[in-house]
Amino acid sequence: MTRQPVRSFRSRDWFADPARSDMTALYLERFMNYGLTADELRSGKPIIGIAQTGSDLSPCNRIHLDLAKRVREGIIAAGGVPMEFPTVPIFENCRRPTAALDRNLSYLALTETLYGYPIDAVVLTTGCDKTTPAGIMAACTVDIPAIVLSGGPMLDGWHEGELVGSGTVIWRSRRKLAAGEIDEEEFLRRATDSAPSAGHCNTMGTASTMNSVAEALGLSLPGCAMIPAPYRERGQMAFLTGKRIVDMAYEDLRPSRILTRESFVNAIRTVTAIGGSSNAQPHLIAMARHAGIELSTADFATEGYDLPLLADVQPAGRFLGERFHRAGGVPAVLTELAAAGKLHGECLTVTGQTIAENIAGRTARDREVIRPYDKPLKEQAGFLVMTGNLFDAAIMKTSVISPAFRERYLSQPGREGVFEARAIVFDGSDDYHHRINDPSLNIDEDCILVIRGAGPIGWPGSAEVVNMQPPDHLIQRGIMALPTLGDGRQSGTSDSPSILNASPESAAGGGLAWLRTGDMIRVDLNKGTCDALVDDAEIARRRTEPGPEVPPSHTPWEELYREKTGQLGEGGVLEFALKYRGVAAVTPRH
Ligand code: FES
Ligand code: MG
Repeated sequence: MTRQPVRSFRSRDWFADPARSDMTALYLERFMNYGLTADELRSGKPIIGIAQTGSDLSPCNRIHLDLAKRVREGIIAAGGVPMEFPTVPIFENCRRPTAALDRNLSYLALTETLYGYPIDAVVLTTGCDKTTPAGIMAACTVDIPAIVLSGGPMLDGWHEGELVGSGTVIWRSRRKLAAGEIDEEEFLRRATDSAPSAGHCNTMGTASTMNSVAEALGLSLPGCAMIPAPYRERGQMAFLTGKRIVDMAYEDLRPSRILTRESFVNAIRTVTAIGGSSNAQPHLIAMARHAGIELSTADFATEGYDLPLLADVQPAGRFLGERFHRAGGVPAVLTELAAAGKLHGECLTVTGQTIAENIAGRTARDREVIRPYDKPLKEQAGFLVMTGNLFDAAIMKTSVISPAFRERYLSQPGREGVFEARAIVFDGSDDYHHRINDPSLNIDEDCILVIRGAGPIGWPGSAEVVNMQPPDHLIQRGIMALPTLGDGRQSGTSDSPSILNASPESAAGGGLAWLRTGDMIRVDLNKGTCDALVDDAEIARRRTEPGPEVPPSHTPWEELYREKTGQLGEGGVLEFALKYRGVAAVTPRH
């Protein structure tokens, strides 16, 4: 007897609709021109999409061009028909003015593909930062069975006997360059050595964070996130993922059955424990909102702040992805959270089992890299959520606050966690680069560097620019970091304890628009406040003046993006799109 799906496969409506045999012939004929047979497509097997994010333009995900072969073999072995198709390329480092424009674009395009073609279930190939949230957001809107396959990080990078990690080595070498300790050639050698193989960033940047998040959400097979791209286990994971998605198609195991408020809380806690990227804030909120689950910036404070840092991985720690994987990876971190009562173990996952069942017996194998919950690297290591007269919400990633920064700014006797600093305000990153070394600004260690015009509307897209480094003369004196603040984002690989993702942004009428160089800013980490010490009458007066100029849109998508996208504090999503959920329940008309 042939296996029966819980719910009839939607592809039947294309390939086996007895009422429209004319259309069926049309739908079938062109798939056969590369060797598929009509029988295969009409046999009642599920059609499994492979959303291919790898390309020459997306080198972080390029491993998926090879892995897809194993995914296909898994799909066929389990009785499905694979159909691979491309997605909009997303490459964090190279896309100008920012890859942030691509998350929502890729989301839109993938949603249309999954809805409009005869696809019953999908493998989301992920890697580079935004490829993970884009895929999950689309899977939530369409709501067909979906499974995440990470391409995996690169191998650990080594340079002259030292670990050099993606991105993090760039920020650190940039400071060394400014201090005159290295030259440009050495800079490039370090960068090259940090990228020794196929794969995405080997630090706990946004890519590894988001793949870990997918695993914590229950959307990938256990252990999937951190297997390095070149490891043999990666190909095996691809095969198993392909096999499993066929069963999920039969079981009708859709994102709406897996994702819950509790699974997102698990993800927030995982981000703290791994020292994950500050970009997890907008991406998690975006995925939750597309899944119809309430999640806000405040949840990062209530659910995530008070947890410890367990993974000793750059930029918050020392090691890189390959060693973290060998230490046990995400399942070992989840095991620590579970043992401390900080994991909702009952959450369902793509395996059809709970997350607690998935991680049974997967304890850490290297305690130098993954600490026990009660002997962490840092206590209270989550994102601080801040508010004040300059913005409604911003976050600060506390796990990257260095001892030197803590000593200088947060350890004044009697007022620990509080500092005041003179604002130096930059309008976008060009302005910063032109003026940061301008002696007339008199930048000293009592300044806070502020950047505005870097949010979703201002940039447009929201740029990773808030981790501004101090002027060269301070770096040469050994001052490697000043406080920074901005309405943009920063790379997940950065070790800067910036106050960032400020919402609303300056271009949307946020308080940063009226801030001026020379204003004093008071930051209180105990209260979670950040205020310009400017009186209300003066603020009101400044608000009547025109704000900073917003550059024009240069492409149709930039214009549309600006019109439809909300603020980072709400996930930076296409707000109108949220009302579309579970759209695959209605098969498109012929
Ligand atoms: Fe693509 Fe980091 S730049 S993963
Ligand atoms: Mg990034």
